[in-house]
Formats: sequence, C-alpha cells, structure tokens
Amino acid sequence: MANSDPIHVGVLFSTSGTTATIERSQAFATFFAIGEINAAGGINGRELVPIYYDPQGIPKQYQAFAERMIRDDCVNVIFGCYMSSTRKAVIPVVEKWRRLLLYPTPYEGFEFSPHVIYTGAAPNQNSAQLADYMTRHYGARIYLIGSDYIYPYESNRIMSDFILEVPGGKKLAERYVPLDASEKDFIGIVKDIKAKAPDFVFSTVVGKATRMLYQAYADIGIDASKTPIASLTTCEAEIAEMGLRIAAGHITSAPYFQSIASEHNQACLARFHQQFGEEIEPNMCWEAAYFQTHLFAEAMREAGDDAYDALLPHLLGREYHALQGKIAINPANHHTRLNPRLGRVNQEGNFDIIAESAPSGVEPDPYLVTHTGEEWNLLQRPPEALYG
Ligand code: ACM
Repeated sequence: MANSDPIHVGVLFSTSGTTATIERSQAFATFFAIGEINAAGGINGRELVPIYYDPQGIPKQYQAFAERMIRDDCVNVIFGCYMSSTRKAVIPVVEKWRRLLLYPTPYEGFEFSPHVIYTGAAPNQNSAQLADYMTRHYGARIYLIGSDYIYPYESNRIMSDFILEVPGGKKLAERYVPLDASEKDFIGIVKDIKAKAPDFVFSTVVGKATRMLYQAYADIGIDASKTPIASLTTCEAEIAEMGLRIAAGHITSAPYFQSIASEHNQACLARFHQQFGEEIEPNMCWEAAYFQTHLFAEAMREAGDDAYDALLPHLLGREYHALQGKIAINPANHHTRLNPRLGRVNQEGNFDIIAESAPSGVEPDPYLVTHTGEEWNLLQRPPEALYG
C-alpha cells in the first residue's frame, strides 16, 4: 500500500531578534510554498508538515533546534538560516546526522558542504556585478561598513579585491558595528563618511541596524543620488522599515526584486498578499525560500523519499522556473545558477531594475575560480533612461 504518512520538514528562521523581519519573510515564503504543495495533493499524496522553532538570531539556538528537529521530530530536510554564522552552526549537525539544509540567502561564498544546497547568490552573482556597475557609474573610491560577523568580513574582503583591480581603486575605510548596534553607533561613522567623501559606500550591515545606517546617512545630508549606499542585502523588507525619503537612490544587487514585471511574478505576489496580508514584504530571500521549497517537492516527488541519499541526486542538476527566471542547482558545488540584477530604490520605495543578466543567468562560482569579469558581468543594460 502507498505510504500516506505526513512528511515533516524543518523550518528554521528567526521571528524574533535582529534579523526577524527578513527571516520572517523567509519563514512565510516557506509556509506559502508548503500550502501550495499540499493544495495540489501533497507529495505523492503525502502532506507536507512544517516543524517550526524560533532560534531568535542566536547561532547556538539554530544548532540546538536543528538537532531537536532531526532527533525528536524525525526531520530529514531543514529549510533555514539567514546569517552565515547561523548556517555555520547548523552544518555540523546536518553533516553528523546525514541530513540536508536548504539555505536561501546570499552569502560570502568559499564554502561547500555536501549536506547543504545554497539557493542565494554567491559573490560572482552579486558582488562582481555591483563592483562593475558602481565603479563605472560612480567611481572606485569606496568606504566599507558592515555588521560584526563573518559575512561582512568576507564580503568586504571580496569587494575590496574587486575595487583594487580598477584603476584608481581605493579603500578609504572599513568599519564594523555590533549586530545589536544602536543609532549612536552610526553618528561618528556617517560623519567620517562625509569627511572622506567616497564615490560610494558598500554596506554589509544586516538586520535592524540597516535602517539606522540609512537614516543616519540621510540625516547628515549625504545625497544618495550622488553617493549611494550599495548593498547585497538591503531589500524591500528593510526599505519598508526605513521609509521612502531615506531609501531613495540607494542600490542593491540581487537576483530578485518585487518589481520584476513578469506575469509569473506579479500573479504570485498577488496570491501571497491575498493569503498573508501586506505585512510581509517579498524580497530576494523570500523568493529563494519560496522556490527552494517547490524545488524540494519536485525532487522528492521523483525520488519518492526525502532521505538524504535518495533525494540528493534528484536535486542536483534540477532546473526550476523561479520568479526571478530559470534557475538550476549546480551538481558540482551545490550552489544555484541565478539571474543577477541591480536595483535602485525610486521615490515610491520600489526598486527600478537598472541592469540584469542575460536570461541564461550566471553559474555559481563560489570560490571565484573563473576570475574574469567578462563571464560574471553579462549584464544587459536596460534603456539609458533608467540610468540617471
Ligand atoms: C548573510 O549573513 N549571509 C547575510
């Protein structure tokens, strides 16, 4: 007789703590996809049941809850993590138990675990394009500011390397603020930015502090249209928290923005809002969390099982028509072929898409082995009118 038991999957995103806003969007994208999968008959007739805990943004709690999900809740697959420090805390657990983590967040690259599928951008899919665009349009004298943990340290190192290759490229400063930074932590920094007058600022500040940086930047009177903050993480979720006056003119590199005009994207956004209201702002991490859950369901439908050894071969190489366009899991490095884009916040608080990759997308190169801008920067330039 066919197995009709429910399939328990782990959902490990924080709905409290400094990254609650963005991680809540990832959790709800996962629940949204699970609802759609169940409404369409589940996986081979079996219902998908999420097991959720709130690790509050604390790496040790991600580790403890991952262990609990696997040991006590009999979960084989976990969808989870935003901050790289939390992913690194979960990896030893999924490796020890031979389970799988699907990770829907842009990160610093230079990592491989056979027990992780990485569905957010690697540096050759966001940083390379951002460095190229910013140095062409604004200049190569850069001021770096980040939160105090691994993703900002490593992303700043990579961005610095890109910038220093450009003629006239110069790093004016590299500063860090605590993850639980307060408004006053940014006062001296924005004064220093104003005094040093970089061509642009590269921010790897995450979580609640993002709003504080952009607010302090506006308050001290730096003109975002002349000296924007460029980021890999500041997205619709943070922009909704900071308000339009503060966000307009700043630039983000990501495979997905709500403003992608396709019918596929706009219809999905409408379904999401109808079900979950307007409180959650879809964004790049929301989209990756959404497509990776559907990707898992398709792979499991084919595999007939979610145990690691049975499922993995059906995930590797799998293609999917995501909201950003076609994506595929690279079998050699477990990262995802994605569709790099650059967005600039307009006066309505939406991202105007100012550049995007060819529809074939960009293969992940998490170790930056193929060190040629040519291959990474296949950006198609939209009409000049969009540039400004
Ligand atoms: C991050 O920590 N990967 C945003």
